[in-house]
Amino acid sequence: MIKEKIEKSLNEQIMKEEYSSRIYMAMASWCEANGYEGAANYLYNHSDEERMHMMKLIHFLNDRGGKVKLMPMDAPAVEYKSLKDIFEQILKHEIYISESINEIYGLCMEEKDYTTGNFMQWYINEQIEEESTMNGVLDKINLAGDQKGGLFHIDKELGGMSAKRPAEELAE
Ligand code: FEO
Repeated sequence: MIKEKIEKSLNEQIMKEEYSSRIYMAMASWCEANGYEGAANYLYNHSDEERMHMMKLIHFLNDRGGKVKLMPMDAPAVEYKSLKDIFEQILKHEIYISESINEIYGLCMEEKDYTTGNFMQWYINEQIEEESTMNGVLDKINLAGDQKGGLFHIDKELGGMSAKRPAEELAE
């Protein structure tokens, strides 16, 4: 049986992953409406990926005899200043998610819950990858500056960047 403290932290993480999925969906929708088709595609996929992060936690918590509790959450923003603004916000959000995951891992070690700690390792690795990807995208956006041509190419490139399929992700 999973300890109450760990159960609580996993439920909070479920909420954070669900919220990540919602904000990326809102950002994707803004991109779609503002002519950034590639970025929209990328972010819709990313939103699905975040939902899978949530599902993975839900399945784990149920398997360990815990109780899944979905929480209310705020509505994401509707307006964004630019593509740069969006990816800056994503990077900031992913750093926050990494911190949250590290805290859960620390709690698992404190509570000697090595099974959950081992499970959280997957998220730790995933966060390294996500932060690195977002940093790379932001570097390119910063290089392009306000040049329409540069942003056009970045948008095209984002459209070709494949997000992992949910099935692959759950299998990892
Ligand atoms: Fe599920 Fe992007 O963190």
